[in-house]
Amino acid sequence: MKLQRRQFLHLVASAAAPPAVPRAAGAQSYPARPITFNVPFAAGGPSDAMARVMGDRMRVALGQPILIENVAGAGGSIGVGRVAHAPPDGYTVSVGHWSTHVVNGAIYDLNYDLLNDLAPVARLPANPQLIVSKKSVPAANLKEFIAWLKANESKVAAGTAGAGSASHIAEIYFQKITGTRFTMVPYRGTGPALNDLVAGQIDLILDQASNSMAQVRAGTIKAYAVTAKTRLPSLPEIPTVDEAGAPGLYISVWYGLWVPKGTPKDIIAKLNGAATTAMADPKVQARMADFGLEVPPREQQTPEALGALQKAEIGKWWPIIKAANIKGE
Ligand code: MLT
Repeated sequence: MKLQRRQFLHLVASAAAPPAVPRAAGAQSYPARPITFNVPFAAGGPSDAMARVMGDRMRVALGQPILIENVAGAGGSIGVGRVAHAPPDGYTVSVGHWSTHVVNGAIYDLNYDLLNDLAPVARLPANPQLIVSKKSVPAANLKEFIAWLKANESKVAAGTAGAGSASHIAEIYFQKITGTRFTMVPYRGTGPALNDLVAGQIDLILDQASNSMAQVRAGTIKAYAVTAKTRLPSLPEIPTVDEAGAPGLYISVWYGLWVPKGTPKDIIAKLNGAATTAMADPKVQARMADFGLEVPPREQQTPEALGALQKAEIGKWWPIIKAANIKGE
C-alpha cells in the first residue's frame, strides 16, 4: 500500500502542477508558505527545544515561519509516521533523533520504513544524558544512589518518554550495568517527566543534558553522572559514568531533520542550507553549548552524512535492542 500511496502522492503532485518547468519553479519559489516542524514528543522537552532553537533561526534564512507541531506517542513513532506519509513538498519536516529514527525500527512494527520512506536533510547537534534524581534522594554520588535504588527497589519509579525513547533505552541499560531494578513510568516526553521529577512524583530519569541542565544548575534535582567518556564543559562538576560507577553507559542522542522520500533535491538543499546557516550562527552555537549540545562539524551536517550515520547506528543498535527483547507500547 505504502509504495502505491507514495507513487499516488507523486502522481497527484506532478498532475497538480503543469509538467517540467513547475518542478524547477516549485523548488525556486520554495518555501511559499509556512513550514511545519513535526516534533514526536511533548512540548517543553529536549526535542521540542531543539526544534524551536533551530526553527527560530532557519525561518530567517528561509523567509517563512516555522510552525512547531508536537505529535507525541509510542516513543515518537507516531509523529515520525505523520511525516513519512506527508506530501514530499518540503512543508512537513521531521525533527527526530537517535531513538525515533533508529531504535523505534527495532521495537515497533512501523507502517513506514525509516530509511526508505524518509530522506535525510541535515544532521543537527547531539547531547549525552544525565543520570538525575529528585532532590530528596539521600545520596551524594552515584554509588550511594545505586545503593539507595537497591534498598528501595519496589518503591522506585523512573520517568521515560515512552517505549523506545532515548530515556527508556538508557534506563534499561542503566539497570543492566548497575544491577538495579525500578518501575518505568511512560510520559509523552521528558519535558513533563522532568516536571514530575522536580515535584518529587518520580525518583529518577536518564534525561538529555539539554533538558535537565537548568534544573541541575538551579539545584532542584540532583545529577550523578553524564553518559559520555568526557565531562560536559557546561557542567564540569558532574563526573562521567566511568568515573562515577556505571562504566560503559555511553549514550549520545544525536538529532536530525528528515523529509518525506521524494522531496525534490533542491528543496532538501535549501532546508540543509538554512540548517547549516543556523548551526554556524555564534548565538545558536553558544546556546547549544550552554545546554550541553555539541554542534557537529560542518562536513558532517550534510544529508549524506546524516543518512550514513543513521544506517551505521541501525547496524549497531538493532541487534543489541532486538536481543534485549524490548517491546513497543
Ligand atoms: C523528548 O523530547 O521528550 C525526548 O527526546 C525524549 C527521549 O527520547 O527520551
